[in-house]
Amino acid sequence: MSGADDLVVLEKDLIAEIDGAGDLTALDAVRVSALGKKGRVSELMSKLGSLPPEERKTFGQTVNALKGKISDALDARKAALETAALDERLKTERADVTLPVRLGPVAEGRIHPVSQVLDEVVEIFADMGFSVAEGTDIETDEMNFDKLNIPPEHPARQDHDTFYFAPKPDGSRLLLRTHTSPVQIRTMVSQKPPIRIIAPGRVYRCDSDQTHTPMFHQVEGLVIDESTHMGHLKWVLQEFCKAFFEVDEVKMRFRASHFPFTEPSMEVDIGAEAIGKPGQWLEILGCGMVHPNVLRNCGLDPEKYQGFAFGVGLDRLTMLKYGIPDLRAFFSGDLTWLSHYGFSTLDVPTLAGGLSS
Ligand code: DAH
Repeated sequence: MSGADDLVVLEKDLIAEIDGAGDLTALDAVRVSALGKKGRVSELMSKLGSLPPEERKTFGQTVNALKGKISDALDARKAALETAALDERLKTERADVTLPVRLGPVAEGRIHPVSQVLDEVVEIFADMGFSVAEGTDIETDEMNFDKLNIPPEHPARQDHDTFYFAPKPDGSRLLLRTHTSPVQIRTMVSQKPPIRIIAPGRVYRCDSDQTHTPMFHQVEGLVIDESTHMGHLKWVLQEFCKAFFEVDEVKMRFRASHFPFTEPSMEVDIGAEAIGKPGQWLEILGCGMVHPNVLRNCGLDPEKYQGFAFGVGLDRLTMLKYGIPDLRAFFSGDLTWLSHYGFSTLDVPTLAGGLSS
């Protein structure tokens, strides 16, 4: 029968084995050999029955205490081994966060040049305090034309080769918007001045050649308050052009023009040296002071409110800035073209970091 001395020896042996276990597997083997069903400590318990009744209680308590100690020692050793294993891993698996990002599949994805230019334009106008407004691609005649001071018989309607939907029973027809200008109307009827928005989006015209596609992109701009004048319009467009073409000076020419929704109206040309082609003028946008009729159509008093509007072709801006010759390629879904002209998904255009770095 194991006496108290034997238990002391067993405890010493087991603790030594536990401390000597070099890894978790070895430690588990010690646990099984001590506390497992047929382990050395467990077997002591099975001998309880053969002891004289007066010894059973003390013996039982002593064995239980031993069990507790061994169990604690096992836990402590386990924790120590795990910490050591983690330290070892941390030593070998150190991550250098200063290394460049490993691109993998991200490198293959490309931002379309038009999306890139849209982000650039939004960034520039957001910096000047404009917010982004949205309309719908399917519009009514009223929004696309009438409210913009283009009545049914107006010749400007013929300039827009409009895609119409089938007429409704009441004779009215929905259409694919031919420009982003209806977003001006949507904004003025739903917001009180001061208004300062840009509205980028898709527009549609029944036209197709090297410089025209049936779907293309425009950005509309609108500023309405009680004192905005042409000087502000000029300044905003100048600042925009400098920021967009990433140059300190851009030569600009404001040519008198006509749009039904502005009075006076202008077309704006830039000196092509901004894109490395000195000596040429390139038309980039139309603009003007919002026509009093348009303000009136939106419930604004033209005696009180005034402001300017402009409309820019995004695809054309993209072709100019990034030297892309054929507009049709923009929409051909050609991966080779996209990998050549596209932008890295990680290069988000910012004024601080550079628009097209
Ligand atoms: N909506 C015109 C177009 O598509 C562009 C335009 C010109 C918009 C002058 C304007 C503007 O807001 O003031 O051709």
